Amino acid sequence: MIDNFNRKHNYLRISLTERCNLRCFYCMPEDGVPLRHKAHFMTSEEIVALAKIFVAQGVDKIRITGGEPLIKKDFENIITNLGALNVKLHLTTNGILVDKYISVFKKVGLKDINVSIDSLKEEKFNAITKRKYFQKVMDNIQLLLKEDFKVKLNVVLMKDWNEDEIISFIELSKNNKLAIRFIEFMPFDGNQWDTSKVVTYHQIMDRVQNHFGPQNVLQISPLSNDTAKNFLVKGYVGTFGIISSVTNPFCDSCNRLRLTADGKLKNCLFSAGETDLLTAYRKEEDVLPLIQQSLNNKHAARAGIGLFNNENKKLFEANRNMTSIGG
Ligand code: GTP
Ligand code: 5AD
Ligand code: SF4
Repeated sequence: MIDNFNRKHNYLRISLTERCNLRCFYCMPEDGVPLRHKAHFMTSEEIVALAKIFVAQGVDKIRITGGEPLIKKDFENIITNLGALNVKLHLTTNGILVDKYISVFKKVGLKDINVSIDSLKEEKFNAITKRKYFQKVMDNIQLLLKEDFKVKLNVVLMKDWNEDEIISFIELSKNNKLAIRFIEFMPFDGNQWDTSKVVTYHQIMDRVQNHFGPQNVLQISPLSNDTAKNFLVKGYVGTFGIISSVTNPFCDSCNRLRLTADGKLKNCLFSAGETDLLTAYRKEEDVLPLIQQSLNNKHAARAGIGLFNNENKKLFEANRNMTSIGG
């Protein structure tokens, strides 16, 4: 699946549900996500059937997202069927239900799990998520490590909220084989984004180098299509990285497509225009021409919107909220 910029798309992110058991303010709009009848959303069978179509077109990596994917009722059945396809399976989760599904992950060969956690202080974590699951998430991260999963921690940095925790997060990588990733805060519908709230790549690196000394912060050679630039502190067993979507986007090497829980194909994280695959599939129409059309419409970068600044904020907000995209 090639677009007009010769980018090969082999990575599909599938959102299983728009719902979530947390309420992170930078992701979920204040009034929540409007509830819609379940007929609007893909059934388990439809998720797997659509995934198969993408796999036949060259997708070899599927990341399961949400909302929170582990609250999907039929999660075990879906992941078992996706696991039977010829793809690398990955998951992004808030970690709350990891212990419940750990044996399922093992059974289907899902080894790579990204866990979102934005603060190591219980009160701050509760304030960001508006729920009280801090210890559960911490325990489940340890459980994943103990069971030898490849774990990345996603930390969305926001001015005045958690930029003071950059070093504490990196210290977690001293003795734990964890990949910590600091993410620049991005604008979506209802998430109160503003340029002044973004903690930038350079600000993060300044803090890190001031603390550890530049000679102790080593760059790791980049992997193709990686969202993060990765580093390690000399002597630490884990790594840390920065996802600089705002100040230095990685669109030139974009290999991603997204399928929302209601069966719409997004050719970019920021594309407000979407392609309704689910309706076509239900009418037994061929969805392949629709997928190619969506690829043909993909812009070079950020859905053609331009830079992340306050002038363009309205255009970025015309997109869905993050909860219903899945990142
Ligand atoms: P890996 O497969 O481990 O590289 O995961 P990932 O970093 O692609 O996915 P994850 O779900 O862990 O998301 C981490 C952060 O990267 C989130 O803030 C996502 O919104 C962001 N992200 C993921 N894919 C894209 C993308 O295609 N474009 C941009 N701009 N950001 C993305
Ligand atoms: N900016 C950057 N990352 C975000 N995420 C959610 N909302 C935003 C945002 N506004 C992250 C979550 C999760 C991943 C899928 O996307 O923390 O780890
Ligand atoms: Fe791809 Fe859009 Fe993300 Fe750029 S912003 S990397 S084009 S999904």
